[in-house]
Amino acid sequence: MAILSYLVALLALLCFTAAAQRVVVADIWKPANSQIASPSNITLSRKALSVPLTQTSDKTLYRINVSAGTPPQQQSLQLDTGSRRLWVPATGTSICASSLADCANLGSFDSSESSTLDTSGETDTIAYSDGSSVTGQVFSDTFRIGGQAISNQVGLLGKQGTAVYEGVLGIGFPASAPTINHNLAAQGIISSNRYSIYLNSLASTTGTIIFGGIDLSKFVAPLLRVPVIGTDQPIIALTRVATLKGLLPTIQTSADYSQPIILDTGTSLTVLPTALVDSINTAMGAQYYPGATNGVTIVPCSAVTQSLSINFHFGGILTGPTINVPVSQLVLQGLGSLNGVEMCQFGLFGSDAANGNFPTTLGDTFLRSAYVLFDLDGGKVGLAQAVVGSADSLVRKIAEV
Ligand SMILES: *[C@@H]1O[C@H](CO)[C@@H](O)[C@H](O)[C@H]1NC(C)=O
Ligand SMILES: *[C@@H]1O[C@H](CO)[C@@H](O)[C@H](O)[C@H]1NC(C)=O
Repeated sequence: MAILSYLVALLALLCFTAAAQRVVVADIWKPANSQIASPSNITLSRKALSVPLTQTSDKTLYRINVSAGTPPQQQSLQLDTGSRRLWVPATGTSICASSLADCANLGSFDSSESSTLDTSGETDTIAYSDGSSVTGQVFSDTFRIGGQAISNQVGLLGKQGTAVYEGVLGIGFPASAPTINHNLAAQGIISSNRYSIYLNSLASTTGTIIFGGIDLSKFVAPLLRVPVIGTDQPIIALTRVATLKGLLPTIQTSADYSQPIILDTGTSLTVLPTALVDSINTAMGAQYYPGATNGVTIVPCSAVTQSLSINFHFGGILTGPTINVPVSQLVLQGLGSLNGVEMCQFGLFGSDAANGNFPTTLGDTFLRSAYVLFDLDGGKVGLAQAVVGSADSLVRKIAEV
């Protein structure tokens, strides 16, 4: 497979030399040693583990540095494929003062300082599926990302919030929403509304998003595309899950399995139906946290050295993409000891109607093992196995693939 990837890369180099590459490359980042949050406000008893799980979602998700206004004001925003709107915390408002959003470190927007601001004054609220929300004023202004300026980008100037910890750059479907990626294409900065995301491994603090492009050095070809279900979120069909001990697979789903699932950089864990997590846990030596009110899964930290992994299949079993997630990418932080065994959080979360009812989600614990192309113009998602830790770069315009 590596040889195939090299040949494809070589071919790309040979075929592609002259035309200017209209792609926008931007680093994405997460804080070092960040805690991993579960998608709900979990309260656990301290009895069984010496260290409780804490909800620190402000420190777990991936961020992208952009600027707002003229002259540019730096902002670090959460990069979110699961939503479609852009909001920035407004300087000097309760959203910064209440220590909700970390404006001191991540920036805030003082709209009175921008000469390119346009605002109708209209009030609006953005509500997220986890119950958090932000209210403020609709505005438009120039934003800069990866060295390119996007004019008249609509956003929300967030003034009050509930459980929001940072501004958000929503880049999800559909193409018709005036997202930053839509405007990059509409303003001719990139050739189409497509972007690719490489989060890199759990240990790494930086990844990359390329608007209008892909990086051939960061995945094992082929990158296979599957259709998006519906039009308003990057939801695709998960068609098989298998656990692997070494190379030996055990299929954990039925032959006709097809589960709609959203690809969401804005969720730190991977959320699957409880019954499926039950059987994966058994195969991976993980278990539900005793006494937890919802599906928090724990695993002995020593599992990180075992030859265990999970295969996620999408689309046709023979024709669609398969992403292998090794256990090393699923064993998260040390929690303390349970019956003398050091326990870590496992990167899956079991949810169903009786248990939180969170949307089935491929969150960061899945996405770090994948290279993902969000093809908004084509209504597809492309997936390939990521080459984690790759320092190489071979960027091409997506339309050339
Ligand atoms: C993003 O901005 C923050 C805050 O200014 C800075 O600490 C960080 O190094 C920047 N990261 C990247 C990848 O540009
Ligand atoms: C989260 O916390 C809020 C406020 O404390 C509470 O009303 C809500 O029920 C909690 N949600 C879950 C899923 O526990």
